[in-house]
Amino acid sequence: MEDRLQGLLTEARSLIGEATSLDEIETLRVNILGRKGTLTALLKGLADLPPEQKPVLGKLANQIKEQILAVLEDARRVLGEAEQQRRTVEGAVDVTLPGRRLPAGGTHPITRVTDDVCAIFKRLGFSVAQGPEIELDYYNFEALNIPKDHPARQMQDTFYVSDDVVLRTHTSPVQVRVMEKQQPPVKVVVPGRVYRCDSDLTHTPMFDQIEGLLVDKAVTFADLKGVLVAFLHAFFGSSAGVRFRPSYFPFTEPSAEVDIECVMCKGKGCRVCGQTGWLEILGCGMVDPAVYKFVNYDPEEFTGFAFGMGVERLAMLRYGIDDLRLFFANDLRFLRQF
Ligand code: FA5
Ligand code: MG
Repeated sequence: MEDRLQGLLTEARSLIGEATSLDEIETLRVNILGRKGTLTALLKGLADLPPEQKPVLGKLANQIKEQILAVLEDARRVLGEAEQQRRTVEGAVDVTLPGRRLPAGGTHPITRVTDDVCAIFKRLGFSVAQGPEIELDYYNFEALNIPKDHPARQMQDTFYVSDDVVLRTHTSPVQVRVMEKQQPPVKVVVPGRVYRCDSDLTHTPMFDQIEGLLVDKAVTFADLKGVLVAFLHAFFGSSAGVRFRPSYFPFTEPSAEVDIECVMCKGKGCRVCGQTGWLEILGCGMVDPAVYKFVNYDPEEFTGFAFGMGVERLAMLRYGIDDLRLFFANDLRFLRQF
């Protein structure tokens, strides 16, 4: 019995000495000292010994158990320190490594086009104004000569917030807000978001417009055409196909719409331009005297023109993009190209 106890101690020492991790130490502890461990099994044999040997061997067994515990404890401390050391080394920061570059964002193509358009008009002497996206019915419709029962309200599918409040369907209400505050000469452009219940290849429920308004003495349709053609040539280059087409808006008279030759098909006709070869980019006209009534301008003294263009349409044509919805999907593979 004594030999077996001494043998167990020797064996335990060598096994523990070979252990390389805290997990292995724990397994050894269980195997030797646990309820089904080798030492525990030996101690059960004590019961069969002659009574005079019991206290001697019992004491020895306890000493051996203490020694094994001490060896386990030492091994645990040494391995624990080594593990700690290893973690420190592995987790250390190598200050000589090059830094990880943060991906730099870019300007969204719509923002870029808006900025470019405003810059061109600033060079022509326009200033930049803004107005609210949640707008009173009064500014979005009434004061633009579109009373409640006017059929032109159906030209634009409106999101109503309440009876008198809408999400603006165009940037034209800002014309009225500017004229209310300021007597002529007025020369502003107004970039901003607008909302309509509309969705397909060339229409999205939220899109961007840039409004323009110029009111002064003796302004004519020739001035309107001159300014717009100067702008379009500055933006698209002087070879771009441009056409004015008669149109109707309740707040301008006469009115026109401007089309640009479709860049996808070079005017041959495709799904983007609805097989017409042209893409409508703006509406315009001479400010209707009925509008001046709402802002106390004297229509005998002043005349002016206004226009409103679709920024996404300009961007589609400039970058050759055939689906307007791509601008709003926020797909980085698309956006990184600009
Ligand atoms: C208007 O919104 C008028 N306020 C423009 C105007 C201003 C006329 C001042 C006269 C004087 P229209 O609904 O046609 O007009 O829209 C103007 C431009 O916005 C269109 O030519 C087109 O380029 C763009 N647009 C219209 N609807 C959408 C849409 N759902 N998605 C993207 N672009 C659109
Ligand atoms: Mg239109």
